[in-house]
Amino acid sequence: MDKEITDKLQAKAAALFGGAGQRLFFAPGRVNLIGEHIDYNGGHVLPCALTLGTYGAAKRRQDRRLRFYSMNMPEAGVIETDLDSLESRPVHGWAAYPAGAVWAFMQHGFVPETGFDLAVYGTVPDKSGLSSSASLEVLTGTVLCHLFGFDCGPAAAARLGQEAENRYVGVQCGIMDQFASAMGKKDQAILLDCASLAYRYVPVRLGDAQLVIVNSNKPHELSDSAYNDRRRECERALADLKKHCSIDALCQLTPEEFQKAADVIEDPICRRRAEHAVFEEARTLAAAAALESGDIRKFGQLMAESHISLRDQYEVSCRELDILVEEALSIRSTVGARMTGGGFGGCTVNIVQKDAVPYFTETVGRHYHERTGLRAAFYIAGIGEGAREIV
Ligand code: GLA
Repeated sequence: MDKEITDKLQAKAAALFGGAGQRLFFAPGRVNLIGEHIDYNGGHVLPCALTLGTYGAAKRRQDRRLRFYSMNMPEAGVIETDLDSLESRPVHGWAAYPAGAVWAFMQHGFVPETGFDLAVYGTVPDKSGLSSSASLEVLTGTVLCHLFGFDCGPAAAARLGQEAENRYVGVQCGIMDQFASAMGKKDQAILLDCASLAYRYVPVRLGDAQLVIVNSNKPHELSDSAYNDRRRECERALADLKKHCSIDALCQLTPEEFQKAADVIEDPICRRRAEHAVFEEARTLAAAAALESGDIRKFGQLMAESHISLRDQYEVSCRELDILVEEALSIRSTVGARMTGGGFGGCTVNIVQKDAVPYFTETVGRHYHERTGLRAAFYIAGIGEGAREIV
């Protein structure tokens, strides 16, 4: 944990909210290795929690007020609300995430006895597609569990974070981001079955290669209607398929079954969305097996195929992400590259031979700038533990 960050945060919280006694918390962002846009189609995903994330300093109050402050957005000041008006006067802006998490907990009977003060500082770049918002929701859930003794468990806290995002913020996201933030483990990816929430950890052993995350610095707008549109298109494809096969989710079909049934999906756009989901599910299971058996080349190949499908079938990539992937794959020492997260901007995830990382960052960075006028940022990402109190 970065002591410099927590010291600053604690000092800020004490200055703003008065007194000592704040407790410190952390919830990570995530990077998804493969299994994109299938969490809400009953598929498997393979995310890792990052060592980047959101820190929080929190303290119970005597009254029912809730006060939120972000060191990343000092211009927003302290945002105040209270436990009784979360629903009638919804909070907007960044504080909708912590407010929404409190609201979701209350909906499920986890009602705090008092309000609390929460100051946060995030190291996940905003709008990078590395789940700063999920980390904020899961952070708030972790704060609630520790300050008020709720016995809810990290997986349930992840679901409540998702509910906050779905019903309070209004983005119809799946469970992947919150689950990864709550359940991450150092140096492990999580193979999560989003239909049942069964999961297992898969060690990320990349031999002489390592993960490199590249931020396009083209902000993604997740709450852009495009994300919700994709969900609806998948639902329409599923409704057509259900007339002919007994399934509850697109990812229950194997690629062979899908190819036999695909014609019943009337709209060609919805058919392409469903095709992505079905094949991405098969790729994710194959990729997890490849990682487990140490076949990194195979893993990289599946990443590249995933990107092509997200670009052409699912249409959630963008020119900037395509350029980053193309430039990455034109370097011999790149094992795999793809967009990660919701898309329309944000980051790519890459597997690169360790000794070639300086060459990779220099070359991809320079070509990307020449072709787009934008500066990419490179993170040598650490895979870290899930949300917790820092003691
Ligand atoms: C966003 C959502 C996730 C998931 C990804 C795409 O990160 O929050 O639930 O759908 O997009 O895989």
